Amino acid sequence: MANELPVWVQTLIERRRPGYGLDRAFYIDPAIFEIDMERIFMRHWLYAGHVSSIPNAGDYMLYEIGGESIILIRSETGAVNALFNVCRHRGSRICLTERGTARRLVCPYHAWVYAADGSLVQARHMPEDFNRADYGLQTCHVRVVEGLIFICCAETPPPFDTIAHDIADYFGPYELARTQPAHRVRHVIAANWKIVAENFFECYHCSHTHPEFCSVMSYGRALDTRSGARDHAAFVAEWEQIAAREGWRTGGVAITDSTVHQIQRTPIRRGYLTQSEGGAPVAPLLGRLTAYDGAVTAIQMYPLIWLLACSDHAMLSRFTPLSPQETELELTWMVREGAVAGRDYDPERVSWLWRVTAEEDKIICENNQRGVASRRYIPGPYATTEGSVEHLVAWYLREIADPAPFPYPLASGAL
Ligand code: FES
Ligand SMILES: [Fe+2]
Repeated sequence: MANELPVWVQTLIERRRPGYGLDRAFYIDPAIFEIDMERIFMRHWLYAGHVSSIPNAGDYMLYEIGGESIILIRSETGAVNALFNVCRHRGSRICLTERGTARRLVCPYHAWVYAADGSLVQARHMPEDFNRADYGLQTCHVRVVEGLIFICCAETPPPFDTIAHDIADYFGPYELARTQPAHRVRHVIAANWKIVAENFFECYHCSHTHPEFCSVMSYGRALDTRSGARDHAAFVAEWEQIAAREGWRTGGVAITDSTVHQIQRTPIRRGYLTQSEGGAPVAPLLGRLTAYDGAVTAIQMYPLIWLLACSDHAMLSRFTPLSPQETELELTWMVREGAVAGRDYDPERVSWLWRVTAEEDKIICENNQRGVASRRYIPGPYATTEGSVEHLVAWYLREIADPAPFPYPLASGAL
């Protein structure tokens, strides 16, 4: 019984019309939010941060999601370990600050001491038959790909090898592991995480809400006018010829009903070298690149991951559901390691496009949330350009309806 959805949630899933939005309860109900945490966020791979946040042995950062606190800590060997921030004595949180450096992790309650790999190294006044080896911190699955840290809180995580391969394949030339933060902003968006995900996975809204984005990205305008579509098609064909000549990667990885990620290489706009105001470079070339290729490489991944790189900077976004009607968005712009602010780049210029675009998205997501919270909201039909939203929503409903694998007992008793 514990693994079955409440009947009313099953009914909502069954009565959803394909091609239409979700019912109001999916965006506001605390019980559905708990289900989302258990069956989506505790089950799938999540983007937790970049290795530059924990460069040296003992450096740690916390990532808090779904009521869990995960310690990401650099070990003596340089590996990134992910540990549940739950003492094996009486369960206290161990690390209390968002970032820090510690040779050993000492529980603030009764001072049990753990190593960076989670093993218990000291516990005072324990009985003679107490075996420290039995009381290491629980580990969380972690994979570091191109400097990007992914975690999965499930006991048995979904496959990640193909995702890791595709990220390395498409993002490898940027050498994201050798980048440093140039700018960071955090927003708390007053909207359910699915409102945010739906918004970030479609561009139907772009021409009305993102003038800056449409001034930079050729495809932003291609969506709404025939002449824009023709211009864009001609531009892409030209860029692909140049790409073939220069040996730049084109194309991408399409999402399917059995995968959770997609990658695209998208040319920006005629004459634009990077995603900046006017298209001029804003930072030194990244990684192994020897020229500005005028394109952006982006990965989108369920449930809510969106990372991109241009020739001279990357934009790493981390989305974290906080409550049924709140989602945190942290945007971090990365530039080449060693680049100096004021000399090699201006953080304002590097961050301009996605800084203003995210501010606009925050507003439209919050308007959307307030609307769907109304008793008079009726799910409407998707446009032909919203196939990605239908795909996301269909995946989401399949996931929450699927009880297995379901590794942990529910904290809230929601199921
Ligand atoms: S709860 Fe951590 S040492 Fe007691
Ligand atoms: Fe947007």
